[in-house]
Amino acid sequence: MSFLEMRDVHKRYGGVRALNGADLFAERGEVHALLGANGSGKSTMNKILTGIAAPDQAELRLDGEPLRVTRPQDAHRLGIAAVYQELSLIPDLTVAANVGLAFEATTAGFLRPRAIRSRAEAVLRRFAGAFSGDRLPVDVPVGQLSPGEQQVIEICKAIAREPRVLVLDEATASLHAAQVEVLFDVVRQLRDDGILVLFTSHRMGEIYALCDRATVLRNGEVAGAVQLAETSEAQLVEMMVGRQTGVAESTGATIPMAAERQPVVLQVEDVVGDRLAGVSLEVHAGEVLGLGGLAGQGQSALLAAIFGAQRRRSGRLLLDGRELRIRRPSHAVAEGIAFVPGNRAREGLLPVRPILENLTLASMRGRAVVPGVLSQKRERAAADQAVEQLRIKLGSVNDPVSTLSGGNQQKVVVGKWLLEQPRVVLLDDPTKGIDVAAKDELYEVIARLTEEGVAVILNSSDDEELLGLSHRVLVFYEGRVVDELHRADLSRDRLVASSLQVVDR
Ligand SMILES: Nc1ncnc2c1ncn2[C@@H]1O[C@H](COP(=O)(O)OP(=O)(O)OP(=O)(O)O)[C@@H](O)[C@H]1O
Ligand SMILES: [Mg+2]
Repeated sequence: MSFLEMRDVHKRYGGVRALNGADLFAERGEVHALLGANGSGKSTMNKILTGIAAPDQAELRLDGEPLRVTRPQDAHRLGIAAVYQELSLIPDLTVAANVGLAFEATTAGFLRPRAIRSRAEAVLRRFAGAFSGDRLPVDVPVGQLSPGEQQVIEICKAIAREPRVLVLDEATASLHAAQVEVLFDVVRQLRDDGILVLFTSHRMGEIYALCDRATVLRNGEVAGAVQLAETSEAQLVEMMVGRQTGVAESTGATIPMAAERQPVVLQVEDVVGDRLAGVSLEVHAGEVLGLGGLAGQGQSALLAAIFGAQRRRSGRLLLDGRELRIRRPSHAVAEGIAFVPGNRAREGLLPVRPILENLTLASMRGRAVVPGVLSQKRERAAADQAVEQLRIKLGSVNDPVSTLSGGNQQKVVVGKWLLEQPRVVLLDDPTKGIDVAAKDELYEVIARLTEEGVAVILNSSDDEELLGLSHRVLVFYEGRVVDELHRADLSRDRLVASSLQVVDR
């Protein structure tokens, strides 16, 4: 008998079979990985465990007792807490108040604000190293924190419930390396205290660093349950996608080198704005320029400023030596500048509109200015191609985008730009939540773009990706470029040293 047993779980969403008889067995004091490609059913499994989704059929037991969860409150009462891909924080409330929401469910009586604050602070203190600044942001409105810090608060909120089972469903996707380390230390303590942690991530390094065993899902069924110490990454990926791939090792290997001899496409001159204290850079045709450094040092702000999604107070942008007047995203699109945002929920998609419309949105916006109108038929064909190329798992392209799994939504954001012919592509954490096989497809797309002479600027919270894809990396600190690392001297150690050295100055 296992501590947690989920047997023969079935779940359909309309025509989509999310789970088809999946099983999961996990023990106390274990970090158990729940793995699988995008759309394989991981989040559905987690949502059934936490009472957010109702199974069509399932046999669930926790600690020998039948588990009846029909609402999230049931899960809380039974000691099951979860962190999902989407944040559930209230931006205007302080950190303490947000974390405090967790106590209301577990504490029958009334807690004074001061008691809430000190209990919240105690949880936060375990994550001290994950926040910038020298003081814990207890009384700061959550909306003022960086995306990574907000994610940490979300995790604090789950831990504040003192659960027996903690579900982390891509909880690390917006964390940078140092924050992940802090989280892992806390998770290891929880594990040693006998808590069961169910862990999902598309970063394979994290799986091996943290987890003991893994259950691998494929198309809603179990493809295998394995000991990680006895299973190679290639074997895991094969279980996930049902075929052999060269994934894992191939990151960036296909990106053509020697880009700097090609002409400069985009010049950024002394751009000043929110979080930007004067940034200048040049990107060459066929070059992938990486933006590195600690999270939230102006990397995303720069991409938004180039795209016209954030105001520039001063500074110039030049495309092929010609000064651009970009004040709105539509101006950037008209100049052939494409943008893949990291925050798909806010900037990337119209969730209730059909997948097809979301895929073709960028082309339609450009239509007023780009000659050669796409016919509906060609639009559909192009969309089908994007779906196929990135292996977007869906029922029908006419379904709302909100019915897609997290990773598949991100693929739609990326896919929009495959239908364009951009000169410059701005990628802001483009593979957040995308599975290993699809990441590889995306890297190939980036390689193809560079071969065609497109200039790419890449911001990534995934060090491996940044190191693997970039010809050069600019290290950011407090809205400035403080270091430049060339391909030849790019390594994780150099990147970390360069990012941190700056902090000591
Ligand atoms: N609310 C919903 N309505 C319709 N279909 C859904 C809904 N939620 C999930 N699905 C479908 O169920 C399948 C499994 O989705 P799920 O979110 O469990 O995948 P996942 O393994 O978590 O993927 P990812 O790695 O992308 O997060 C997908 O094909 C998805 O489109
Ligand atoms: Mg998911």
